[in-house]
Amino acid sequence: MEVIITGGQGFLGQELCRHLLKKGELKTSSGVMQEVQRICLFDNVAPATTSGVNAHPKVVIETGDLTNAETCQRLMRPNASVFHLAGVMSGAAEKDFDLGVRVNLDGTRNLLDACRAQGASPAPKFIFTSSLAVFGETYVEPGTPVGDTDKIVPKNTYGMTKACGELLVNDYTRKGFVDGRTARLPTVIVRPGLPNAATTSCYSGVIREPLHGVEAVLPIARDLPHPVTSTRALIANLVILHDATWPDRVDRALNLLSRPSSLQQLVDALYEVVAPAEHSKLGKIVDKEDSFLSGVVRGMGSHLSHERAKELGMLEVPNMATVVREFLEDFGEKTVVSNKRQRVA
Ligand SMILES: NC(=O)c1ccc[n+]([C@@H]2O[C@H](COP(=O)([O-])OP(=O)(O)OC[C@H]3O[C@@H](n4cnc5c(N)ncnc54)[C@H](O)[C@@H]3O)[C@@H](O)[C@H]2O)c1
Repeated sequence: MEVIITGGQGFLGQELCRHLLKKGELKTSSGVMQEVQRICLFDNVAPATTSGVNAHPKVVIETGDLTNAETCQRLMRPNASVFHLAGVMSGAAEKDFDLGVRVNLDGTRNLLDACRAQGASPAPKFIFTSSLAVFGETYVEPGTPVGDTDKIVPKNTYGMTKACGELLVNDYTRKGFVDGRTARLPTVIVRPGLPNAATTSCYSGVIREPLHGVEAVLPIARDLPHPVTSTRALIANLVILHDATWPDRVDRALNLLSRPSSLQQLVDALYEVVAPAEHSKLGKIVDKEDSFLSGVVRGMGSHLSHERAKELGMLEVPNMATVVREFLEDFGEKTVVSNKRQRVA
């Protein structure tokens, strides 16, 4: 079977590709396990590296812009499963409304239309990555977690575009054009590389920067709980969502498993994992709260419940010390501490 990953050069696109190459098989829309023979990594940026998963013989690199409907039509293949990960992040979409709407909403519709044009039966699987940012104004009692079926009233443009995408996936599925499933992602930590344009970028930076001997600046209040997940749990759960048998209902969205964590809890986990003798090597952590950004994070819903994800047997998010250890194992090559291991392929 074939897989198309949009946003294939991004953080999660590359990790998902690595996971699928290792796993080797997925459940097709006919319900049978089949070998993954080809993975197309589609992105509007060219690969930063020609090694790693980009060099794997089963991987095909396609460069193009999903806001171009013809490009999406050309990209699509009969019966291919689509993991739609490309998108403009929360900070960038809030700064540039037109870009956010064009990529996150029009681009998603272009892809869904391209799947529809294949006319495949049974309909191909389409995994859409939404976000907990769809929950802005909530109507649950304070302290009550926000569940899968609570009303989605985003408080930013990013969340609005993701909420629209969820509705598109529901209706394209109801019409039989795709077999859609929407995962509402919490913040995935620890993201490697440079900070990105997400408002919640510091939930990774607070671990990543000190481990590289670099100062981490925290624009969000340290005590604010925010739902996070580990990279490994997130990727495994996206694949469980793909392979699952979805109950017969119009709503195709669920909250992926998450664990509320404050920046202070992440700092504590960092200092627990790094040996005391090496604490002095860690980069400084500096508080510079930006009340606007703290407000945006506060408006995202701090506690979620995950009834549907649990029904599907998804993986629990590990504790934060394990999250730090996983980062050191998977991406720790250039960190300043000794307890790291280089990942094999
Ligand atoms: N990482 C997280 O914490 C998180 C949390 C919630 C939701 N999500 C969602 O998960 C998805 C993947 O996240 P990520 O962290 O890998 O993001 P990322 O920014 O690392 O990757 C997104 C990729 O999309 C590509 N892209 C942007 N515009 C495009 C366009 N017009 N055409 C083609 N490609 C385009 C970018 O070049 C980038 O490589 C996103 O849709 C994001 O909204 C992520």
